[in-house]
Amino acid sequence: MNPESYPKYRIFNSDDELAEAVANDIFLSAKLSDHPKHISLSGGSTPKKLFSILADKFASQMPWERIHLWWGDERCVPPSDPQSNFGVVASLLLSQIKIPKGNIHRIRGEEAQPSDEANRYAQEMKAVIPLDSEGIPIFDWMLLGLGTDGHTASLFPKDIPLDFESITIHTTHPDSGQNRISLGASVLCAANHVRFLVSGKSKIPVVHQIFGNAPEASQYPSGIVSREAANSEWWLDSDAAEALH
Ligand code: 6PG
Repeated sequence: MNPESYPKYRIFNSDDELAEAVANDIFLSAKLSDHPKHISLSGGSTPKKLFSILADKFASQMPWERIHLWWGDERCVPPSDPQSNFGVVASLLLSQIKIPKGNIHRIRGEEAQPSDEANRYAQEMKAVIPLDSEGIPIFDWMLLGLGTDGHTASLFPKDIPLDFESITIHTTHPDSGQNRISLGASVLCAANHVRFLVSGKSKIPVVHQIFGNAPEASQYPSGIVSREAANSEWWLDSDAAEALH
């Protein structure tokens, strides 16, 4: 492994410290400017500590009236389903803070036609979030997870070549076949701050492949987004960072 070729990264002693650092960065960026902050939340289990820390430590000090919460992807299930990425945030965070309802922009996983919902969500983003010259929404924070197969959001290796035209896509999970709606690669890349939040020993092999520029990693959506984004960083806890030793 050649550390010279590593993507930008930071290592934290624990997943708690990692989550605390993300919460602090979001808080500081929100305090430093009075513009609305558009944050795309990642799904899965890694960000649960972040949601809890935001609820426990930032409920009163975060300017929630200027924070808009979006989702990088969603499973096509109702919010009440334990698999719902929105449902996790609603339970851990939204139930604990005073945030205007209009600032919560969920993907409606319960919709019968995922492609129609994907299009609706794209329109909602374009109506609310500042756009770049190509009409791509520019998020302030794009929080992303990393799957052990190299996926991020719901962009899977099977979706390669990545669609850099569509703002949202309807896809399916490669193993379960579950319908998913995801932000498109161009949206992930366009954000002002792209942060891959990775914790746990289970991610050592895939982190090793990505940081080591393994040939198979060139087809990982996470690696492609990391390379194409103007400002991306990998935030790893010490367990996942064992991949770098
Ligand atoms: C999802 C995600 C997905 C997730 C990774 C990591 O809806 O599942 O957005 O990209 O971030 O699979 O998941 P864990 O944090 O559970 O390892």
